[in-house]
Amino acid sequence: MNISVDNGSTIAERLRLRVNGEKHDLIVALNKTLLEVLREDLLLTGTKHGCELGECGTCTVLIDGEPMLSCLVLPIEVQDREIETVESLAQGGHPHELQIAFAEFGASQCGYCTPGMMMSAKALLDEIERPSRDQIKEHLAGNLCRCTGYLQILEAIEVAAERREVARRTPIGDDLEANDPGEDGVEEVAAE
Ligand code: FES
Ligand code: FES
Repeated sequence: MNISVDNGSTIAERLRLRVNGEKHDLIVALNKTLLEVLREDLLLTGTKHGCELGECGTCTVLIDGEPMLSCLVLPIEVQDREIETVESLAQGGHPHELQIAFAEFGASQCGYCTPGMMMSAKALLDEIERPSRDQIKEHLAGNLCRCTGYLQILEAIEVAAERREVARRTPIGDDLEANDPGEDGVEEVAAE
């Protein structure tokens, strides 16, 4: 549905957006970018305004798993596609490996570039389990940081990748088994 003014020109449109697994039915001004809709209409302010020219990467979100600059995307273009913002990283109260590693390594200083950096890095780690440093550098080439000098960011992503790989290879239940006394344990307790 479009909303028009007296002279017949359309000023707003009705949209369905799927963001972080939730469906939203919205009426938004035609001239708004996805970045503006996320921040102003959905109040997901984790995604940052930077240059708004496609040059800094701070507005990066994932669309169907691919990093895209939300300052250059019109919401209508991504209707019914899966949009992920930095707010989706922590799950069930647990921070993502990238969030933990960024904090540990000082990879987030003023923090302005961090949401975009982490969303770009997430897309990479979802595609390549253990990317090389060169692959990380190439993948993050569009994300600018004015504080860190990048080294801490590269290190944090490498460590996050390593931890994810270890977690994936640890069979579910290993932790439980380690604490499970098993049949022998039951017998010992019963015999005491
Ligand atoms: S704000 Fe989108 S690239 Fe800078
Ligand atoms: S941490 Fe400040 S711009 Fe990257």
